Amino acid sequence: MVLSAFLLLFLSMELSVAHRILFLSPISTRSHTNFVKPVIKGLVERGHFVTYWNGLLAKNQGANALDETANLRLLYSPELDELCDDHNVDFGAGTNNVYLLFELPKRMEKYCKAIYRDPVFHQLMDSQEQYDLIIVEAAVNECILPLVHKFDAPFIYTMGAMPMPWHLDAVSSPLAFDHYSHIGSSYKNEMNFWQRTYNTLSGVFSVYYWRWIVMPVADRLAAETLHIENLPTIEKIENKYLSLLILNTNLGLNYQMATTPAVIQAGGINLGPAKPLPHDLEKFVNDSGDAGCIIVSFGSLLRTSDLPDDMRRLFLSTFARLPQRILWKWEDKNKIGNNESIPSNVKFMSWLPQADLLGHPKMRLFITHGGVNSIQEAVYHNIPLIILPVFIDQPINAKKAEDDGFAIHLDWSNLTEEILFDAIQKILTNSSYAGKMEKVSELMRDQMETPLDRVIYWIEYIIRHDGAPHLRTASRKLSLHQRFLFDVMLFVFLVDILMFYVFIRVIRYFCCSGRIRKCDLKKNN
Ligand SMILES: *[C@@H]1O[C@H](CO)[C@@H](O)[C@H](O)[C@H]1NC(C)=O
Ligand SMILES: *[C@@H]1O[C@H](CO)[C@@H](O)[C@H](O)[C@H]1NC(C)=O
Ligand SMILES: *[C@@H]1O[C@H](CO)[C@@H](O)[C@H](O)[C@H]1NC(C)=O
Ligand SMILES: *[C@@H]1O[C@H](CO)[C@@H](O)[C@H](O)[C@H]1NC(C)=O
Repeated sequence: MVLSAFLLLFLSMELSVAHRILFLSPISTRSHTNFVKPVIKGLVERGHFVTYWNGLLAKNQGANALDETANLRLLYSPELDELCDDHNVDFGAGTNNVYLLFELPKRMEKYCKAIYRDPVFHQLMDSQEQYDLIIVEAAVNECILPLVHKFDAPFIYTMGAMPMPWHLDAVSSPLAFDHYSHIGSSYKNEMNFWQRTYNTLSGVFSVYYWRWIVMPVADRLAAETLHIENLPTIEKIENKYLSLLILNTNLGLNYQMATTPAVIQAGGINLGPAKPLPHDLEKFVNDSGDAGCIIVSFGSLLRTSDLPDDMRRLFLSTFARLPQRILWKWEDKNKIGNNESIPSNVKFMSWLPQADLLGHPKMRLFITHGGVNSIQEAVYHNIPLIILPVFIDQPINAKKAEDDGFAIHLDWSNLTEEILFDAIQKILTNSSYAGKMEKVSELMRDQMETPLDRVIYWIEYIIRHDGAPHLRTASRKLSLHQRFLFDVMLFVFLVDILMFYVFIRVIRYFCCSGRIRKCDLKKNN
């Protein structure tokens, strides 16, 4: 009797703080999904009711998988999975950040069309459900914002990497182009005059470009397909309802940037002690002896099997010279020619339990593209890196990691067997990399609370305070020109011109009048 009364009390206490949260990431990548999953698990454990729409089907997730429970509803879309599984990017020179930026309208159109076609979107659009908060994955999911308008609830953006300038602009956080390089320019934090000029001009351009060219694509498709009366533009919905931006960055690992209180840095949210490996994999790693193991993975967005043939041969012939065992994430075995000899120390695997492998005592080195999750996992487990960045935030991550001394940054453009071999030898024999790694690892872990606790606190805070409008800086009300202070700069420029003009007139007045007096004197003589 006492027990059941206690239980009832406990349940009602739980329910009184339970909120309904809608999590939207119809367009996603594996790494962005990995960033938000712990948040979803955490919210569910706190007793909230979470509906999670993810464009990626649950595959190969091991211990990371989410299970539907009484307060977690999972919505999947097979058609979107095809899109999210292959974002059409590869190692080619064409896939650089500037190219990706100019391709955005086309991508936006493709993603919006797919979302507006999807049954899950219409199921949500037609539902009578109510939500206290909506969370949206920030990378090209903007066409989902009509749902925010429909549910009339505050929303949060999560970004599974460093922010794009338009994400910071959306919460009116300083763009800080003097010290914060955006991915379009990919500089370090210390920039010379020309780098700062390029970083500023291209960064400001990218924000206008996003607002004036890319967002209108979503508006046009929403108007054409949804036929919702008086639907505000995506930009207006964003400005009205956006409460918080959660980033996958970390003070010990990323370059610093100034932010408004509505930006939360939660990098490292998915880190934890390594779990045991599957038996045959553990045996392979165990049997590597003193030499140990090397992991090679270029993430999930890029397919290693798309690696050009000459690069694959370069890696294989380098690995053949090493005593280490190599575990290589390789999706498609058919892509390797039949007559090609694979060194006996190399094992191809279509999927790797990367974080658990990095936590194994036999691991010596990680060769990677430098995605933010890979770097965080390596730093957490103290494994030095060789980084061969391709695009998005990877070039900046590689530069920062090299600056911090725990990684060697190599370029695809002039990679040779000798360069790769030397870099591997240097990392394996020179203890300075491991020493620097330990220092950064300590920095990354030294936080007041876990990143997950921080994120959960802020999510509940936003709900408790109805979107927390007091966190907004007043610049959210300004136009883009005012926010960039273009009006002030124009005014100062015009005043300068005016003062210069007056100055010249005054000089001329005195000079001339002097001359006239001289002239007059001459005449009088
Ligand atoms: C691998 O080595 C560890 C430590 O020596 C041992 O505990 C474990 O049983 C080994 N696993 C296999 C599969 O051999
Ligand atoms: C392997 O076979 C392909 C064609 O099947 C050929 O072009 C290539 O030269 C061969 N490579 C070697 C190393 O024999
Ligand atoms: C490779 O190219 C990059 C620039 O593309 C350059 O900074 C680097 O020094 C080059 N490395 C070698 C070994 O030539
Ligand atoms: C180890 O590497 C660091 C950083 O590249 C370098 O400064 C140092 O001279 C190297 N030490 C040895 C013994 O090669």
